[in-house]
Amino acid sequence: MTDHTFIAEPGGALRGCIRVPGDKSISHRAIMFGALADGVTTVTGFLQGEDCLATLRAFRAMGVLIDGPDQGRIVVRGVGLRGLRAPAGPLDMGNSGTSMRLMSGILAGQAFDTVLTGDASLSRRPMRRVTEPLARMGARIKSAAQGTAPLRIRGGQRLTGIDYPLPVASAQVKSCLLLAGLYAEGVTRVTEPAPTRDHTERMLEGFGYPLARESDRTVAVTGGGRLTATDIDVPADISSAAFFLVGASLAPGSDLLLEHVGVNPTRTGVINILRLMGADVEILNPRLAGGEPVADLRVRHAPLRGIRIPETLVPLAIDEFPALFIAAACAEGETVLTGAEELRVKESDRIQVMANGLTALGITAVPTPDGIVIQGGALSGGTVDSHGDHRIAMSFAIAALRAAGPISIRDCANVNTSFPGFVALARSAGLTLREREAA
Ligand code: S3P
Repeated sequence: MTDHTFIAEPGGALRGCIRVPGDKSISHRAIMFGALADGVTTVTGFLQGEDCLATLRAFRAMGVLIDGPDQGRIVVRGVGLRGLRAPAGPLDMGNSGTSMRLMSGILAGQAFDTVLTGDASLSRRPMRRVTEPLARMGARIKSAAQGTAPLRIRGGQRLTGIDYPLPVASAQVKSCLLLAGLYAEGVTRVTEPAPTRDHTERMLEGFGYPLARESDRTVAVTGGGRLTATDIDVPADISSAAFFLVGASLAPGSDLLLEHVGVNPTRTGVINILRLMGADVEILNPRLAGGEPVADLRVRHAPLRGIRIPETLVPLAIDEFPALFIAAACAEGETVLTGAEELRVKESDRIQVMANGLTALGITAVPTPDGIVIQGGALSGGTVDSHGDHRIAMSFAIAALRAAGPISIRDCANVNTSFPGFVALARSAGLTLREREAA
């Protein structure tokens, strides 16, 4: 096996104007809704990362014609909610939790059987959070002994709507159930313990499907409707912008403009947390693009201070904590995160893997069951292991802006799942970053 290593040289500043790739969550959903709609959906700004390509291939395998992707443009020829065909073999979801969890909701409502598989990381991640409520709706799904993938989904079941309070704040589980709800008899109602990203709800509305937002935490759909094709302009992913928001905040002399970033309020926790730490992030030219709020973000260097991160912001910044831990490591004083046990079941155990990496770079970082305590300090150079986790790899690359020596980051191939072109874009903004393939 080859190891894909990043080597980030110390120092530098981030300057200029960049656009990071398209939003991963919205790109997945654009394919799913486009495929299940009546009519042709054109998507621009689509994220051509491995995760979204796994979703795209799965729909192709079920008979949906999709042109592209070509420079972020795809054309999806929708087959309608009942138009998918049985795939010839298992559907490989790769590294993508979003693909597996959302697809399981769609596939539970089909007339044919399917099998969903994933890579080693995805095959360790919890799937009972979707298989249990789907079973309550009448789905028949077999998982491996630990409730993990592969998932064997029996077709031809009659689904019935349920009223489901989510035990965890998870947009993936919420979306899975709403998608299954399109195939269910009656009303499927989901209540979250705290608001999570609402791209599924917005896209349902965009495709003309009636949706009841009963409160800021409860949403309901009634089965039996139809989706009508529409065009989608995918904004740049705030989760990818996050590395640059943190990097420019840390590095003296930085002044960076990030263009056309999605700033849906269910995703902007990273901006709020950075501002609480003292960061200088301006939201410029706010506008709407296809039902989603978008803005340009200007970020300039500012001294950061450690904070106790408000738990209400955790679901709104859930993917940005690896980058925020780097901000905490460079801040003055202590940063305390609690209420974030979900980080332990992401593409890696992000609490442990980040603590290990920070410790290797001379920072005091103490994991707790549901968070971490980080003492700001001086980052040394060194070697860290991303454990195949894209966001951890990119976070440590950004850390080099403030490190005393080069940082080598192992196992970085999965950066392509969410951020193809990261190395080139980061270099264009001022990071000195190389890649090395070693046998
Ligand atoms: C996502 C929801 C989040 C997030 C993931 C994408 C989505 O997962 O971490 O990267 O697109 O719905 P959870 O719902 O498991 O928190």
